[in-house]
Amino acid sequence: MTRQIAFNLFEMNCVGHISHGLWVHPENNRHRFNDLDFWVETAKLLEAGLFDSVFLADVIGTYDGYRGGPETALREAVQIPSNDPLLVIPAMAAATRHLGFAATFSTTYEPPFAFARRASTLDHLTKGRFGWNIVTSYLPNAARNFGLADEVEHDQRYAIADEYLDVLYKLWEGSWDDDAVVEDREKRVYTDPSKVRYINHRGPHFSVAGPHLSAPSLQRTPVLFQAGSSVAGKAFAARHAEGVFVGGRDAAAYRDNVADLRRLAVANGRGADHIKAFASAVVIVGRTAKDAQRKADEYRRLSSAEGYLAHAGGGGIDLAAYRPDEVIDDILARENRPGRDRQPSNRRHPAGTTVGEALERITRFDRGPFVAIGTPMEVADEIERWVEGTDLDGFNLRQFLTPGTAEDFVELVVPELQRRGLYRRSYEESTLRERLFGAGNTRLFDQHPGARYRGGAHLGGDAVPLAAREGAAHAAAGPATPSYA
Ligand SMILES: Cc1cc2nc3c(=O)[nH]c(=O)nc-3n(C[C@H](O)[C@H](O)[C@H](O)COP(=O)(O)O)c2cc1C
Repeated sequence: MTRQIAFNLFEMNCVGHISHGLWVHPENNRHRFNDLDFWVETAKLLEAGLFDSVFLADVIGTYDGYRGGPETALREAVQIPSNDPLLVIPAMAAATRHLGFAATFSTTYEPPFAFARRASTLDHLTKGRFGWNIVTSYLPNAARNFGLADEVEHDQRYAIADEYLDVLYKLWEGSWDDDAVVEDREKRVYTDPSKVRYINHRGPHFSVAGPHLSAPSLQRTPVLFQAGSSVAGKAFAARHAEGVFVGGRDAAAYRDNVADLRRLAVANGRGADHIKAFASAVVIVGRTAKDAQRKADEYRRLSSAEGYLAHAGGGGIDLAAYRPDEVIDDILARENRPGRDRQPSNRRHPAGTTVGEALERITRFDRGPFVAIGTPMEVADEIERWVEGTDLDGFNLRQFLTPGTAEDFVELVVPELQRRGLYRRSYEESTLRERLFGAGNTRLFDQHPGARYRGGAHLGGDAVPLAAREGAAHAAAGPATPSYA
C-alpha cells in the first residue's frame, strides 16, 4: 500500500512566525490573530482539507539580540506581539471533530505540575487530539523573564527536560488507574481512592507529590513532538519523541538524519516506526507555473531581510555586527559567551559557515531544503520524490499568506496527492496518536518510557495509593449521611 503523507499547518499565535515581512501583503490576515474567529476559521479550513493537525510554535521571550535590542523584532512583528498557543485550542476543537492540535511548551522555566494538568485538560476537551511540541527554549530574553541572568546551558536544559518528562509520565500514566472514576451515585463514590496515588517524585530539579489533578484523558500522555538536532537533542528525541522535526542541508542529509533517528529509537528499545519524521515545507502552488512563480516573486519582494536577521540574532549571534568573511565558529569560540551553546554540534550553522553565507541563507525563504514552487503536478512530484528519497513521514507546511497558503494547498495540491494515493480521502481515526500510528494506538506504545508507570508501577516506595493511607478508608466509603440534605 502506498504510504500516506502527513501534513500539519505550521502556525504560531502571532503575526510573524517565520515568513517575515509578509504581514504587509493586502491579502494576509495575520493581524487578526487576537480574534478567536481567526482560529476557528483556520481550524475549519484545515479539517475540510483533511490536514493531520495545526502545529503551534511558541517562544517565551523576545528577539533582542539583533542590533542590541528588540526594536527590529517589534517593528517587523517577529514573533511579537504573540499570545499563548494553548488557549486557542479549545475554540478550534469545538469547531472540528478530527483535526489534531500540537502546541509548543518549554520544559526549562515553568515546573511540570501545572503543565501536566493543562495538557490533560486539553486532551479531555479535544477528545484525544492534543499533542505537545517539547522545547527547551533558546532565547536569552526568555531566561530573564523567568528570573535567570542568562540561558541555562544547552545540554543541562535537556537534562532538566528529561526529569520534567519523567514527572509528567508519573502524573499522566501512573497516578490514576483507568477505572478510578466510578461515578457510583448509590454508593456516593465519585473516584475510588484505592486507584489514585501520590507520585512523590523527588529529583535534582523537581519535587512533586501528586496526585495528578485530572482524571485520565483519552491519550493520557499527549502525542510528543520534538525538534532537537544536537547530540543531546537527538538522544532526547530517541527516548521520548513520537514525532520529530528533522533537519538537514539537502535530501541526502534528511535521509541520514531520519535513519539515525530510527536507529537511536531502536537502541532505546523502541520500534523504528515508533517515531514519525517531519520536515518543514515551502509549497507555493499555482494553476500554472507562471502563476506560482508570480506568487513566489511577490513573497520575495515583500520579505523582510531585517525581520529574518532579528529572528536569527535572537538566539544566536548578531550577524549584522560582523564582517561577511568571518567564520561563525571562530566568532563563537572567541566570544565564548556564558550560557550559550558551545558544542559545534549544537550550532545552527554548519562548521565553516561564514557570516556572509549565513546572511544569504537566512534572508531567503526559498533556499530550502524542501522548496516546491509550481503547478499541482510539479509540487506533488517534488513531495513524492522527497518522501521516497528520505523516508520522511510528513511535513509542516510553512505559511506565506493566511489563509492563502493553506487554501491553495487544499484546493490544488490535496486532490493531486489524493489521486496518487498519497493523501487521505477521509479521516479514519479519532485521536491524534491513532492518526500517527493507526487505529487502536491511542495510548503510548508499551516500549515507550512513559508506559513503565502504568498502574503505579515503578513509582517508588513513597507512591502509595491514597486508600492505603491511615484514615483514608472512611473517605473511600463516603460519609454516612449526605452533607447537604
Ligand atoms: C520545525 C521546528 C519547529 C520548532 N519550533 C520551536 C518552537 O516553537 N519554539 C522553540 O523554542 N523552539 C522551536 N524549535 C527549535 C527546537 O526546539 C530546537 O531548539 C532546535 O531544533 C535546536 O535543537 P538542539 O537544541 O537539539 O540543537 C523548532 C525547531 C524546528 C526544526
